Amino acid sequence: MTPIQECLINKRTDVNPIWLMRQAGRYLPEFREIRKKNTNFIELCLNEELSEIITLQPLDRFKFDAAIIFSDILMIPFGMGQKVEFQKNFGPRLGEINKEEMFNLKETYFSDKLQPIYKLINNVKRNEKLKNKDVIGFVGAPWTLLVYMINKVSPKNGLSKFFFKDTSLIIDILEILDKFIKLHIKNQVEAGATIIQIFDSWAGLIENDFDKYLYKPTSSLVDYTKKLGVPVICFPRGISDYKVFCKVVKPSMVNIDYNVNLKNIISDVEIPIQGGLDPQILLTNKDMLNLEVNKYLEAFRDRPYVFNLGHGILPETKIEMVEELVKIVRNFK
Ligand code: CP3
Repeated sequence: MTPIQECLINKRTDVNPIWLMRQAGRYLPEFREIRKKNTNFIELCLNEELSEIITLQPLDRFKFDAAIIFSDILMIPFGMGQKVEFQKNFGPRLGEINKEEMFNLKETYFSDKLQPIYKLINNVKRNEKLKNKDVIGFVGAPWTLLVYMINKVSPKNGLSKFFFKDTSLIIDILEILDKFIKLHIKNQVEAGATIIQIFDSWAGLIENDFDKYLYKPTSSLVDYTKKLGVPVICFPRGISDYKVFCKVVKPSMVNIDYNVNLKNIISDVEIPIQGGLDPQILLTNKDMLNLEVNKYLEAFRDRPYVFNLGHGILPETKIEMVEELVKIVRNFK
């Protein structure tokens, strides 16, 4: 069994596996090298040879316990026919939604369009470097994908006041998303993904109707993934109540963000926990890093705990700080 599965399934507390969200990304010079020559991000995600190389880059350097596939949560709206572009120094920009077209979209069209992602997973899975390690497939949660699809750009500065205007559009998109997110999960599992993580990066923007936007749509995906026989990790970034979330949604493991109080989460939540460290700590110095990393390792000493961050690693992060981080986690007794 892999170290992460030992934590998740056997509830072992004496192993602290480690991987990092966005571990395959811009803080790595070898990623930037490839990215420079491949200016279209979507095309890069659909290039199975290059995306395999990128997926394995952080494993070569840091011997993490899992590979998270190099892809993006916005590949789902892309597969559903919405235009998705990534603009330099701006981020994602999405096109108009054609609801009729999305309703009538064939599952085979979606799966064919995203086929390179499934081939990538299959290849990574069979790679020697993945021996006794997990291949993490992922999806965006319905709420976060809805936010990008309707808002069309990152909601960094909050949602536009028109966001909730068209309630029937919201209901319909959530229904279509449930179908295609499940299809994307199934295709990834069939290709060899051993864990699925659900990223709800903008869950913290939900103010009302938690059932409609958070609990119901996420539970639907969690139940579905569990039935496929694969553990599922949820990351509802920025929510105020992880206790209710875990009780209602019942993921196999929950990734906490860096605002979560460690004492409270230990008493509130019984399932295995992942993550938490503020990625900004990796921009400070080794003494600070030691102090902060040990806070997490000590707090979860008697609990199944997978080391990770409270959000994706920042592009400014220095390689030697990541090396130091891995050393601290590996040497913890
Ligand atoms: O290593 C990994 O974790 C695997 C790859 C991965 C990417 N995106 C690659 C990527 C994963 C898991 C994601 C998830 C993702 N994508 C999320 C959820 C996690 C989170 O960070 O909250 C979200 C919200 C997105 C949408 C997205 N993709 C944004 C907002 C951006 C642009 C802003 C930014 O930070 O760059 C991306 C682009 C993106 N996805 C990059 C990478 C490596 C950078 C692309 C580049 O080189 O310019």
